[in-house]
Amino acid sequence: MANLTTNFIGIKSPNPYWLASAPPTDKAYNVERAFKAGWGGVVWKTLGSEGPPVVNVNGPRYGAIWGADRRLLGLNNIELITDRPLDVNLREIKQVKRNWPDRALVVSLMVPCDEESWKAILKHVEDTEADGVELNFGCPHGMSERGMGAAVGQVPEYIEMVTRWVKQHSRMPCIVKLTPNIADIRKPAEAAKRGGADAVSLINTINSITSVNLDTFSPEPMIDGKGAHGGYCGPAVKPIALNMVAEIARDAQTRGLPISGIGGVTTWRDAAEFLTLGAGNVQVCTAAMTYGFGIVRELTAGLSHYMDQKGFTSVDQLVGRAVPNVTDWQYLNLNYVTKAKINQDLCISCGRCFAACEDTSHQAISMSADRRFEVIDDECVACNLCINVCPVADCITMEELPIGSTDPRTGEKVGDYANWTTHPNNPMAKAAE
Ligand SMILES: Cc1cc2nc3c(=O)[nH]c(=O)nc-3n(C[C@H](O)[C@H](O)[C@H](O)COP(=O)(O)O)c2cc1C
Ligand code: SF4
Ligand code: SF4
Repeated sequence: MANLTTNFIGIKSPNPYWLASAPPTDKAYNVERAFKAGWGGVVWKTLGSEGPPVVNVNGPRYGAIWGADRRLLGLNNIELITDRPLDVNLREIKQVKRNWPDRALVVSLMVPCDEESWKAILKHVEDTEADGVELNFGCPHGMSERGMGAAVGQVPEYIEMVTRWVKQHSRMPCIVKLTPNIADIRKPAEAAKRGGADAVSLINTINSITSVNLDTFSPEPMIDGKGAHGGYCGPAVKPIALNMVAEIARDAQTRGLPISGIGGVTTWRDAAEFLTLGAGNVQVCTAAMTYGFGIVRELTAGLSHYMDQKGFTSVDQLVGRAVPNVTDWQYLNLNYVTKAKINQDLCISCGRCFAACEDTSHQAISMSADRRFEVIDDECVACNLCINVCPVADCITMEELPIGSTDPRTGEKVGDYANWTTHPNNPMAKAAE
């Protein structure tokens, strides 16, 4: 059976699944049960400075987007960092770490942007013997208006400065958690690296308004007739997170910087995808909040089974495996030609592919009087929209034309690999001649 243990920046855990800093990791009661269920590690819910704890709203704090089967696809929240007293959290962290020495216990932090505040909290965390700290530079609501969270994460110079303080005033491994609410995720990652971060984690939540109540005309969740933007997470954000992880993994400045992948991990497949794009482990929040801690059993069993099937004996063998295949559009092979093909045995004649292709694509599907649907190879540009709208899995497939054959649409022979950089229609390619 595949070995799922990981050593992420020197922090060992029995599997690559950590609970992300959020309600599931807010107290010993939760974390103890999470560890019993099998989670490899946790990032404790973000701690703030000593003094009166933050105050949360007393009305609803979540908004949601559901699929047609009411499955939760996206979750929006307006919760702040922990609202429990600092000393209570620290005491519990220390006890939990003692009880579970083989699990990763990282403490998330967010304090005002001055050196003394960081120095003070780091001393407290070190006393707990936690494995490391994660700097929350991502929270997009509430705290950012106070100059913390995303307010730091959106300014690379601040990220570098605070990370440097943390590395100066503590020996603990330091993970910088990035906000996705920024144009180019590579900039904050580069800043974290310059500041001496041992790793970055991403993504934190995305600025969002999930819905508006059309009776009260208030964004939801509604607090006494008003709503504020919240942070979006869950399965819906996974594509955004995967891209950002890949951007950091393949950027020349940040290549090799360890990454903890976060955002919509719900199944072992999601986790495996993050790993292949360069994450050394993954963190999970919404899936645990939706299905409970027991989901980790599926996550570990599925990953282990997949690794066995592929012959991978350690998680490291999976990490970054897809990164060399992430490229820029200009390097894609323009001589890779495919055509859609409909399997008539599976087709239920719903006509969705026809409607999509006829009205919004390339008029490449014909419909007969008795509702038989066929692809017209002379017109098909291989966009694959039909596959994406077809309700029957594998009913439509894309078939590759072999090199040397003729594409009936263009009348041209399928050639060897050639990309845009050398294409005759590319003015830059011509200029280079
Ligand atoms: C209710 C809630 C509270 C959160 N609180 C924190 C927090 O205190 N610190 C933090 O770094 N991230 C916080 N997050 C963000 C998560 O740690 C995580 O980055 C995000 O939810 C994306 O992961 P997911 O798609 O698996 O939920 C919170 C998320 C939710 C839903
Ligand atoms: S791949 Fe695109 S162009 Fe071809 S049949 Fe499907 S929708 Fe039409
Ligand atoms: S969408 Fe799929 S099932 Fe429906 S007609 Fe087209 S091929 Fe058949």
